[in-house]
Amino acid sequence: LRRGSDLFAPERANAKGWDLDHRPTLAAIEAARAPFAQALWTAAPRLAEGPSQDVAKTMPVHSPASGAIIGHVAAATRTDIAAAFAGAAPWNVPCPTRKGTLNRAADLFEMHFGEIFALLAHEAGKTQPDAVAELREAVDFLRYYAAQATDRPGEARIFACIAPWNFPLAIFTGQIAAALAMGQAVIAKPAGQTPLIADLAVRLLLQAGVPQAALQLLPGGPDVGAALTAHARLGGVAFTGSTATALKIRSAMAAHGPAGAPLIAETGGLNAMLVDSTALPEQAVQSVIESAFQSAGQRCSALRCLYVQDDIADGFTKMLTGAMDLLETGAPWHLHTDSGPVIDDEAAQNIRAYIEAASAEGRLLHQGRVSSDLPAAAAQRFIPPTLIAVDGITDMNREVFGPVLHIARFRACDLTRVIDDINATGYGLTFGLHSRIDDRVDAIASTIHAGNTYINRNQIGAIVGSQPFGGEGLSGTGPKAGGPLYLPRFAPHSITQNNT
Ligand code: NAD
Ligand code: ALA
Repeated sequence: LRRGSDLFAPERANAKGWDLDHRPTLAAIEAARAPFAQALWTAAPRLAEGPSQDVAKTMPVHSPASGAIIGHVAAATRTDIAAAFAGAAPWNVPCPTRKGTLNRAADLFEMHFGEIFALLAHEAGKTQPDAVAELREAVDFLRYYAAQATDRPGEARIFACIAPWNFPLAIFTGQIAAALAMGQAVIAKPAGQTPLIADLAVRLLLQAGVPQAALQLLPGGPDVGAALTAHARLGGVAFTGSTATALKIRSAMAAHGPAGAPLIAETGGLNAMLVDSTALPEQAVQSVIESAFQSAGQRCSALRCLYVQDDIADGFTKMLTGAMDLLETGAPWHLHTDSGPVIDDEAAQNIRAYIEAASAEGRLLHQGRVSSDLPAAAAQRFIPPTLIAVDGITDMNREVFGPVLHIARFRACDLTRVIDDINATGYGLTFGLHSRIDDRVDAIASTIHAGNTYINRNQIGAIVGSQPFGGEGLSGTGPKAGGPLYLPRFAPHSITQNNT
């Protein structure tokens, strides 16, 4: 087992971030966010050829946390998509220029922390700690990939970078930074729910010196993504999102794209954690709370199915439900809020219907609470932390992307079967284990199918460079983001010359 490895990573330091326990830092954040409290942002296609011809067709963007209109977006049209492919040009500058520009972008991201924190709260419902972690991760991606940038070994390609809404800054920026670091041209498509933060990120990258032809933005929903991935001039796709969408993209690329164009897909998970009777209960409960409910459970890495050894299960469940009652689900801009809203009404309805069905079957064990002063227009999007009983992960057939945790019991003699059941889901993203039995830890960690395994801690929040992140099976194609093998996938070519 390799623990805490930093394999092949160049000399680097992760971003310092913002210490939310430090009063002057908090005051600085408040002051920097304040001018953006009532801001109206815009997002529109950013094309090499200039402004889109169809910008009049704008739609309001509503905050999931308040329901208020926080900006407007002009989704890309078919004309814009054609223009983006026609105008795309690789970033053919010396490697040190690319490194310098990406590092300058990282500095600009840090300088604009007030606007970024405001947008992350208003557009994506991110709590302040989540927003800090997300900005740090975006900055880390920029600097990490800048450090690894090389001369492009093969031909120039146009990469479509297609991002999810749940990390609208970090993942969106990471995909773009990786392709740019290798000198490729990028057409970036953010999730339909979060175009405004994407527009800001692209503005800062352009301000840092990335040419517009090397980085174009096409806001829009699935239809824009589908058109991009079916384009004959596409050179590759960096995608993060659901497994179902990744499968559609693979089919579209196989049917329309050039043969062998790389698809880097980071997808969903049915993530489990095992707590055995040797675990430290307080530490394990805290890990479960963070893993299942932080970010309202809207992380691909989030814990979905908790297995607790039967001889400690009653006491552990009592501690866990007590800890759930302490969580504050409410407006993300309040510092005391632990968890914000889910992303939109459709997500809320799906999650609520799932909970109601579990309740009707008598499996709803516990729900925490939501804040009493929620804006009426957004109240239904705030879902309390929820605990549902299952016999095992075999009872679960899909990723419920919200603050819903399933709990099962296991006996020590059933451990092998439990691991087999987890592996049999076909997913393999994160796995958590709380145990003080070293042989058990080693045996499970070497047989579990998971891209990222976490022992005696939470199972979310991978750190760029230290914990390269990505899954196997239905959870992703690899290589891991924030790891040493990621960039070569953006320029898949080896040149060997015999000089004798
Ligand atoms: P999604 O698959 O619905 O959408 C992701 C992106 O794909 C969006 O930009 C969307 O517009 C686009 N898209 C949708 N249909 C498309 C199509 N047919 N062709 C091309 N593009 C298309 O996912 P989501 O709801 O935005 O994000 C949540 C999902 O992402 C969850 O399943 C979560 O587990 C996963 N996720 C995975 C990781 C990871 O690193 N493994 C990280 C974050 C999120
Ligand atoms: N990289 C994110 C995490 O580890 C998804 O939680």
